[in-house]
Amino acid sequence: MESLSSKVLLFGVSCLVLLAVQRYLEYKRIVQAIQAPSHSTTLLSVRSVLGNILPRIRGITRGRMATWVDKHIQYAKSGWDGVIQVNMWPKPNATLFLADAAAIKEVTTARARFPKPVKVYRALSFFGGNIVASEGEDWKRYRKIAAPTFNDRNNRLIWDETTRIILALFDDVWGSQDTVILDHALTITLPIALFVLSAAAFGRRISWTDEEGIPPNHQMSFKVAIHEVSLGCLVKVLVPEWAMGLTAHLRRVRLAFEELNIYMLEMISQRRNAEKKEERHDLLTNLLEASADDLTFNDRDLTGNIFIFLLAGHETTAHTLCYTFALLALYQDEQEILFQHIKSILADGRIPTYEEMPLFTQSMAVFNETLRMFPPVLGIPKYSAEDTRLIISNDAGEKRDFGLPQGTNITLDVAGLHYNPRYWKDPEEFRPARFLDPEWPRDAFLPFSAGPRACIGRKFFETEGIAILTLMISRYKIEIKEEPEFARETFAERKARVLTSKPGLTMTPVRVPLVFKRR
Ligand code: HEM
Ligand SMILES: *[C@@H]1O[C@H](CO)[C@@H](O)[C@H](O)[C@H]1NC(C)=O
Ligand SMILES: *[C@@H]1O[C@H](CO)[C@@H](O)[C@H](O)[C@H]1NC(C)=O
Ligand SMILES: *[C@@H]1O[C@H](CO)[C@@H](O)[C@H](O)[C@H]1NC(C)=O
Repeated sequence: MESLSSKVLLFGVSCLVLLAVQRYLEYKRIVQAIQAPSHSTTLLSVRSVLGNILPRIRGITRGRMATWVDKHIQYAKSGWDGVIQVNMWPKPNATLFLADAAAIKEVTTARARFPKPVKVYRALSFFGGNIVASEGEDWKRYRKIAAPTFNDRNNRLIWDETTRIILALFDDVWGSQDTVILDHALTITLPIALFVLSAAAFGRRISWTDEEGIPPNHQMSFKVAIHEVSLGCLVKVLVPEWAMGLTAHLRRVRLAFEELNIYMLEMISQRRNAEKKEERHDLLTNLLEASADDLTFNDRDLTGNIFIFLLAGHETTAHTLCYTFALLALYQDEQEILFQHIKSILADGRIPTYEEMPLFTQSMAVFNETLRMFPPVLGIPKYSAEDTRLIISNDAGEKRDFGLPQGTNITLDVAGLHYNPRYWKDPEEFRPARFLDPEWPRDAFLPFSAGPRACIGRKFFETEGIAILTLMISRYKIEIKEEPEFARETFAERKARVLTSKPGLTMTPVRVPLVFKRR
């Protein structure tokens, strides 16, 4: 008599075989439906959490920051600027990675056909629904409320607040020092970006000297709370509420979220109860007006959106400034070109005005080239809402029609596009002048995404960025800090060390040690 256990075993094995066959057929169906010239297969998706933690293992996962590590390589290998990556777990599913400027333009322009998968952004919704993590009617409503503040009048406010903050850094923090040594440039670019955002979008000025101060009824400063929250987003999504008290690290993340919520509620009530209604036209004003006029816009919508603007405008800007300083320190000749250009406009060493902003074309070219090489947002997720097709081309100018069944995920591969030699000659070279050529390839530049869902804060960033860079370079010369342990490294090694990046909410420079020398 056969034992019960072997029957169970046989049953189990049959189930597994059946499942494997079913998965295989599903896999075949997906690959056939897509009609791509080729595809590669891994167990895990690049978009999954595990796929972002594990190192590269052949057949299992492409590894951490795979699109950053590979840049244009996988497209060059396949011969096409669109690559299909099939993952088998948890269910067979296909993602189209794009580094083709025309196809990307089509995807960003046709918002209804290629929406954002809002599920991917659920990590950003714990303070309430918001403009980044929504689609359709919700998104339209949020965008309509926020858009009017991103205008010329507000840009002037951004410029003035930025100048004030940078001059305060020079006067109150750096003072009479001729040489300022920073172990990591992020320690100044993070506060700069936060102070500007806080002052220009929310009317809350933070000073350099009391930045560490913790106000009464708080346990954490605003600066620390926002920083810890941006680092802790992933943890907050993965760890259930009841487990957030288990370790010191988790308790700190939980505290940061609670603290940030209190800070946001304070900003709201302070502004609502302000004695004299100041003539303010910043973002907070518009959000509050919307909540007063529109009953469907509740307090959760308020905190959700305040939070998302703090998050979207803080790290992206701080990291870009940090990479910019690093590149200028590495490429002294480029820094000299920039310095001479600024000097030709500010001959007498005065402070630049908002009206002069369009004159600083070299500063803008430096930022654009930095954003091309180090785009903070490496991948922009979309999917096809219907059965559709996309034309994808290759180096030789041949075109192929890719069939995209409804539900196919798409990743706009920003690094793949920005390092695509079809559009950018010698893409590894830091060469700001390429943006001064009137023919520069606009559709191959995607740091802010494009189309209706493009970054609403691009002008905000450009305004503060130009004010910061212009003041900084006109007063200080930036160099890489010399450290004995790296005395013998080559330029290539130094460049690799200083520009090393790690994943985060946005791509993050690991350690950029700089010296600022007064000119
Ligand atoms: C260098 C600086 C910045 C970069 C590289 C950047 C990049 C981006 C990108 C790539 C997107 C599209 C995200 C997606 O589709 O998944 C985006 C959206 C957005 N950004 Fe920025 N951003 C920057 C600065 C800012 C600033 C300063 C603000 C606010 C003051 C801001 C607010 C937003 C908002 C609200 C959205 C969502 C827009 C929508 O979906 O309608 N960003 N940004
Ligand atoms: C594809 O996108 C959907 C959201 O539209 C998501 O639920 C799913 O996990 C994604 N699949 C992969 C493989 O990333
Ligand atoms: C920089 O890029 C922006 C697009 O993000 C473009 O509007 C601007 O003209 C560019 N400027 C320079 C000088 O490169
Ligand atoms: C991928 O998975 C999502 C959600 O599980 C599904 O809606 C979609 O149809 C799948 N895509 C393909 C190409 O099978």
